Amino acid sequence: MIEVTFTLNGSPTTVQVDDTERLLDTLRDRLALPGTKEGCGEGECGSCTVYVDGLPANACLIPTFQVKGRGVETVESLDPARLAPLHESGATQCGACTPGVALTALWILDQPELLKTHSLRELMAGNLCRCTGYNGIIEGIRKGLTEQAAREGRD
Ligand code: FES
Ligand code: FES
Repeated sequence: MIEVTFTLNGSPTTVQVDDTERLLDTLRDRLALPGTKEGCGEGECGSCTVYVDGLPANACLIPTFQVKGRGVETVESLDPARLAPLHESGATQCGACTPGVALTALWILDQPELLKTHSLRELMAGNLCRCTGYNGIIEGIRKGLTEQAAREGRD
């Protein structure tokens, strides 16, 4: 077993894992954070998205020992108020993709300059959704961007 200490949702956390344990399983089974979902288990669907050092990453592909000394944030760390535009636009239907979509969407909201070089659909391409046709997701992010710009005094 390997001892791994990392920062989880802002708090120092230590777990004992074997070298093949996935971060997804550590979060869900050892640390009682079930918000991170398993879809494909193969790095294709984005249901297991977390932030590692502030960047979206697929927890199903990351051995837990690799986050030693790093910062991990899960959907449980998000401010629910920031997710209102996604709910209002119909982006959250069955909910299977929602944690991953929410993390990627808020990552985009936190750095809107990405939209100078990428479209929203490109930035969301790693998060698959079988329910919405993506229109509600894109609309929700646009709404969030508009509301954020208004709060910051831009139009
Ligand atoms: S469960 Fe990790 S990408 Fe699908
Ligand atoms: S809301 Fe059902 S998979 Fe996205």
